[in-house]
Amino acid sequence: MASAAVVDAGDAPEPTVRNLLDQDSLKWVFVGGKGGVGKTTCSSILSVLLASVRQSVLVISTDPAHNLSDAFQQRFTKFPTLVRGFSNLYAMEIDPKVENDDLSGEGMEGFLSELTNAIPGVDEAMSFAEMLKLVQTMDYSVVVFDTAPTGHTLRLLQFPATLEKGLEKVMELKNRFGGLLDQATRLFGLGDDLNEDAMLGRLEGMKDVIEQVNKQFKDPDLTTFVCVCIPEFLSLYETERLVQELAKFEIDSHNIIINQVIFDEEAVESKLLKARVKMQQKYIDQFHMLYDDFNITKLPLLPEEVCGVQALQNFSRHFLTPYKPALKRGTVEELESRVSILKSALQEAEAELDRVRKGKQAA
Ligand SMILES: Nc1ncnc2c1ncn2[C@@H]1O[C@H](COP(=O)(O)OP(=O)(O)OP(=O)(O)O)[C@@H](O)[C@H]1O
Ligand SMILES: [Mg+2]
Repeated sequence: MASAAVVDAGDAPEPTVRNLLDQDSLKWVFVGGKGGVGKTTCSSILSVLLASVRQSVLVISTDPAHNLSDAFQQRFTKFPTLVRGFSNLYAMEIDPKVENDDLSGEGMEGFLSELTNAIPGVDEAMSFAEMLKLVQTMDYSVVVFDTAPTGHTLRLLQFPATLEKGLEKVMELKNRFGGLLDQATRLFGLGDDLNEDAMLGRLEGMKDVIEQVNKQFKDPDLTTFVCVCIPEFLSLYETERLVQELAKFEIDSHNIIINQVIFDEEAVESKLLKARVKMQQKYIDQFHMLYDDFNITKLPLLPEEVCGVQALQNFSRHFLTPYKPALKRGTVEELESRVSILKSALQEAEAELDRVRKGKQAA
């Protein structure tokens, strides 16, 4: 196999996310990866970029530790809220674990907890289905999911199967007892106030939604999964696991975003950073080798956080135009810049030394 260094640039997919903006048919965009790699930043920016080419965009956080609010510096709720500064970009934060108001009707709560004991995750799957049902009626052109760290994302993809099991369980009881509610509910340790048919109907309704959505999730015209990572061993390893799981679930994925890349030209004089650049390059090469049919976008590590619409918008440039450090190594400009950085570092250190010496003398 050709190494990344010799891969012909003409063969490799474009190193940007433009393909996602060009794909008009796209309806669901999942953004996932290990904790802290930049999922929320990337999903926020993707939604901002999509808002410039699509009619209406909704970005949803399914991570209980919501941070869309931090990224946009605006408080969001479980209902879509217009993002300040936009006329067609909405955001909402849902907690898949929180009990859905809709589900906690007569007898449902007790039943749900029983069902959850029998089939772990069914409650989460049900509230996810309810959310999707709601979102589908809202008719956004495209929906971006900022998912929770990898493990949770994969659970989310298993929801249809989980719901299926939940439904089977209820059906099984119904069949076994020939609709004799008393016995079935007693078996579940429930009161007599449970309306079995209503509950069955509800589960079935949700299953319909999730089946329909599941079909859409498996359609590469409608759905894609963007993997966010950083150039480190663990992240490479997790990305591979994620890509394989996605293939297993038949979910399309052809974009990888490598975030927090340190560029050689910017490592200036730090030995530590230079060593990191070398290490990162090793993993970046491996990403290119493993995923030579993916659009791999590299994003620079910034000295500051990416917070607020302005910062998101500034950073979004690097999603469409490959990042190039301002200075080229070895040029007069770059050397001048290095010398001036070193000079000011020296001045700072001298001033600090002065202060410490004076402090010692005073003591
Ligand atoms: N390239 C970058 N340079 C500097 N800071 C960054 C960069 N990308 C993201 N950040 C900052 O790093 C922090 C973590 O990013 P973000 O919240 O997007 O990660 P996450 O994957 O969503 O994390 P979590 O798993 O906790 O949800 C944020 O404060 C964000 O502003
Ligand atoms: Mg996040």
